[in-house]
Amino acid sequence: MKRCFSGKTVVLGVTGSIAAYKACEVASRLVECGAAVIPALTESACKLIGPATLEAITGRRAILGLWERGTASDMEHIAMARQADLFLVAPATANIIAKAANGIADDWISTTLLATRAPVLFAPAMNTNMYLHPATRDNIARLRRRGALFVGPGKGRLACGTEGEGRLVETDTILEAAAMALNPHKDLFGRTILITSGANHEPLDPVRYIGNRSTGRMGRAFAMAALSRGARVWVVRGPSTEPLPAAAQVTDVQTAREMYDAVMELVPRADVFIAAAAVADYRPETTHISKIKRGTDAFTLPLVPNPDIAAAVGGSRRPGQVLVGFAAETENVPANGAAKLRAKNLDLLIANRVGGARSAIGSDDCEAWLVHREREPDAYGVIPKTVLADRVLSEIARMLSAPRPGA
Ligand SMILES: Cc1cc2nc3c(=O)[nH]c(=O)nc-3n(C[C@H](O)[C@H](O)[C@H](O)COP(=O)(O)O)c2cc1C
Repeated sequence: MKRCFSGKTVVLGVTGSIAAYKACEVASRLVECGAAVIPALTESACKLIGPATLEAITGRRAILGLWERGTASDMEHIAMARQADLFLVAPATANIIAKAANGIADDWISTTLLATRAPVLFAPAMNTNMYLHPATRDNIARLRRRGALFVGPGKGRLACGTEGEGRLVETDTILEAAAMALNPHKDLFGRTILITSGANHEPLDPVRYIGNRSTGRMGRAFAMAALSRGARVWVVRGPSTEPLPAAAQVTDVQTAREMYDAVMELVPRADVFIAAAAVADYRPETTHISKIKRGTDAFTLPLVPNPDIAAAVGGSRRPGQVLVGFAAETENVPANGAAKLRAKNLDLLIANRVGGARSAIGSDDCEAWLVHREREPDAYGVIPKTVLADRVLSEIARMLSAPRPGA
């Protein structure tokens, strides 16, 4: 990751969230990675953390306002807007997001956000109701449409004592997203990456379905990372709670059979297929037209197998394609992953642990191994899904550029 930040200038905008103290860790890690970090704090941020801390960490004067005297230039916001390779707002309040979405420029950060042509990355942090408020949702959607990048927020315990969405994501995740935003080499430019994401809902009757706990977070991480490397991204998305970047072309499906049909139509034109969805292995034999009534007898539900999407793609692959599968395993994780890779004729497989405290499903990170055809698996340990996606895409880019037997 260091190579992404070395020699880069990152303006770090810190706004008035209770998570402002975490900006110190973000700044420190950026400096450690070789970035020149210019800290800028809003008035509210200064009430929550002291600029002196950020100055000590970054070795640079913190910018506190448009009208400060004694700066190198009275038009410092324009100079910094030009100088920045990345404008990172972490944490980003609902207020700065609203201002940026509406082009309001009434303090240093919001003014410089308008003036810069550098990539802009927001790491939101706020109370769940503030985050879920339609005004905030609209503002985020608007900024995304204009090309702004977002990392998080995550779910968890919030400082206001509630539990839910709105938590600043971990520093690692912010750094990974920042590295992607800065990524100067578009090593997947011109390539088409087809990703499946999310769960499947297999209907039982008009109101019930069999599903799984997949959130689509892994698929989203792949979509974001592939876009930042210049790829064209197609996502076949099953039910999912995660928003996808606006630049991805999305086909929404519910069932495994719908996912199979969409994938088989798109995959002949894709250079890479990444099977990140948690596909339902079985579906109810019968979908009842009317709601099944409660009874007193035991109820047996016959299930029939769904088509195996990864195996079908592996069986009809065209030369030069790179096919990547997933194995969610509770035990013998890399060994079971290797058997699956061979059985489905894939090139790479991400084996991750599910179940227990470190389950990959519904979490921001996972314990993963990258399984190869010809060599021993890479054990990644527990890593954020964003980092995992980036590492796997590096391997894919390498495979696409290297001549391969039979390719
Ligand atoms: C103790 C405290 C914590 C706050 N935490 C947050 C927060 O996490 N996220 C948020 O959007 N607003 C939060 N606010 C409200 C913002 O500080 C307020 O909307 C302010 O106008 C934001 O200004 P700024 O965006 O210019 O920094 C908090 C306010 C207080 C008093």
